[in-house]
Amino acid sequence: MVGDSLGTKLISLGHKVMMGSRTADNEKAIEWTNRNGAHASNGTFADAAAFGEIVFNCTSGKVSLEALQLAGRENLQGKILVDVANPLDFSNGMPPSLTISNTDSLGEVIQRQFTDVKVIKALNTVNCQLMVNPGALKDPGNIFICGNDAGAKAEVENLIRSFGWEKIIDLGDISAARGTEQLLPLWVRLMGKLGTPMFNFSIVQ
Ligand SMILES: NC(=O)c1ccc[n+]([C@@H]2O[C@H](COP(=O)([O-])OP(=O)(O)OC[C@H]3O[C@@H](n4cnc5c(N)ncnc54)[C@H](OP(=O)(O)O)[C@@H]3O)[C@@H](O)[C@H]2O)c1
Repeated sequence: MVGDSLGTKLISLGHKVMMGSRTADNEKAIEWTNRNGAHASNGTFADAAAFGEIVFNCTSGKVSLEALQLAGRENLQGKILVDVANPLDFSNGMPPSLTISNTDSLGEVIQRQFTDVKVIKALNTVNCQLMVNPGALKDPGNIFICGNDAGAKAEVENLIRSFGWEKIIDLGDISAARGTEQLLPLWVRLMGKLGTPMFNFSIVQ
């Protein structure tokens, strides 16, 4: 869902996108490629990581490290990795719990395991339709970003702005991913209460 939304938006903005998967012949990825024209392609996680100048981790947070291992350290080296994933565990039903929390986060675990990758946590606190179309809400609210590399963060911030986001809050280094990932239990509750995933957090002072 998230890879489809982000990939489609990026193509519409003129970028070339390769959709990665565990297998090169993933049916959904092929369908996405066919739907998105000449700038779209698909392959394995390793193919996509090698292809991308900026790589998005849109995998289930519980298995993101496995997916990134498949993507290959050598293919990710020196690149920006936008981590959109949430470490949600649905194995005990709803509501999900977090597999990592409190004094750590998925963003930090990824950064520790891939030290030569510039991990930027962003966009994980909104539904994927809103992620690429903030104008769907009258007041889109805030979007959060964090990461250790200032240059990488600025580049991702520009990309997010090109999606239509205006109120972007830079929360600092990657340890701020603890906060944005731990918003998810509240987000899931709100979705149940409001009956729609089309809402967002808005920070007022
Ligand atoms: N849904 C939303 O609106 C939303 C919003 C914000 C953040 N997020 C977060 O974004 C991430 C993606 O969400 P989603 O709903 O689009 O997808 P998802 O169903 O959570 O994840 C699908 C992806 O995970 C990969 N995957 C599954 N099992 C795997 C394994 N054992 N090893 C390696 N890779 C595996 C799949 O690979 P294959 O292609 O090979 O199947 C696919 O690329 C999640 O972390 C989610 O919490 C979602």
